[in-house]
Amino acid sequence: MTRTVGVAGCGTMGVGIAIVAARAGFTVRVFDTSSEALDRAHEQTADFLKKSVARGKLSPSDRDATLARLIGSTRIADLADCEFVIEAIYENLTAKHDLFGQLDQVCPPETIFASNTSTISITEIAAGSGRADRFVGMHFCLPAQLMRLVEMSPGLNTSDETWRAAWAFCEALGQKPVATSDTPGFVLNYFLIPYHNDAIRLVEQGVASPADIDIAMKAAMGYPMGPFELLDLVGADTQKLLCDAMFGLTNEKRAACPPLIRRMIAAGHLGKKSGRGFHHYDDSKMFGA
Ligand SMILES: NC(=O)c1ccc[n+]([C@@H]2O[C@H](COP(=O)([O-])OP(=O)(O)OC[C@H]3O[C@@H](n4cnc5c(N)ncnc54)[C@H](O)[C@@H]3O)[C@@H](O)[C@H]2O)c1
Repeated sequence: MTRTVGVAGCGTMGVGIAIVAARAGFTVRVFDTSSEALDRAHEQTADFLKKSVARGKLSPSDRDATLARLIGSTRIADLADCEFVIEAIYENLTAKHDLFGQLDQVCPPETIFASNTSTISITEIAAGSGRADRFVGMHFCLPAQLMRLVEMSPGLNTSDETWRAAWAFCEALGQKPVATSDTPGFVLNYFLIPYHNDAIRLVEQGVASPADIDIAMKAAMGYPMGPFELLDLVGADTQKLLCDAMFGLTNEKRAACPPLIRRMIAAGHLGKKSGRGFHHYDDSKMFGA
């Protein structure tokens, strides 16, 4: 029997996580309160899978089967038959508590909940889920459909059984889990948020342009993307939320949101999703194939 999982929130991260799960053979119920977000996610997914076929990474029949396993909905009740639900909505504790409170009413007691949060405590989110023992952190990396790392973290009340099941689920997705403690930023964002802010402050100080900093970091470090290419994928709005959450928890100066990010949000320069961020874009198609 095909296993069914849910993804709540299909913005930048949720769409990639949904592709990962569908590609691994799961039926995926994709829930978002915005029908525009669902339409955009469908378009991005079809485009991504088309490129995967063109690059010989996926057969046309696997593409069709993967697309057929993705079922979008604006009704939370449609997640009722999910074995796991991975949450990828806004980085806001109240919003996440509200969502998990509703999911707790909709899903059977055995459903395991996971949050893709980057900076909020898993234990704190789990406290509002009604099932803190069946709750775990699963932090995918952007772009999730291409990056294999998932930082897995237990909350203080996560049961051993949940932890083992979530770890096995992550491996069944074809991802590479690593165990981290319930710490803001886990491993990756502990480095990435201050690094991105440092790059933005170099631009604020007029040291170099985003394009030249991208060239420098790729040429020097062998990174596949420069900091501003990655920031444009992350989104200025999400970067601000990440900075505010990380700074609020750690008081680490380098995590404080640079003023330029606030101005870019006010101007609508959110990154690839709005057609303009640190760079300009002709479309909102996904990265890679
Ligand atoms: N962007 C990144 O680089 C990145 C990387 C790893 C983890 N994360 C984490 O993933 C989560 C999502 O980030 P994102 O960048 O994908 O955000 P996003 O703003 O791109 O997408 C959020 C989506 O959630 C939907 N949504 C909001 N409230 C909802 C609700 N109550 N129910 C259902 N859908 C709802 C919105 O309509 C939107 O489509 C955050 O917790 C973030 O910290 C982000």
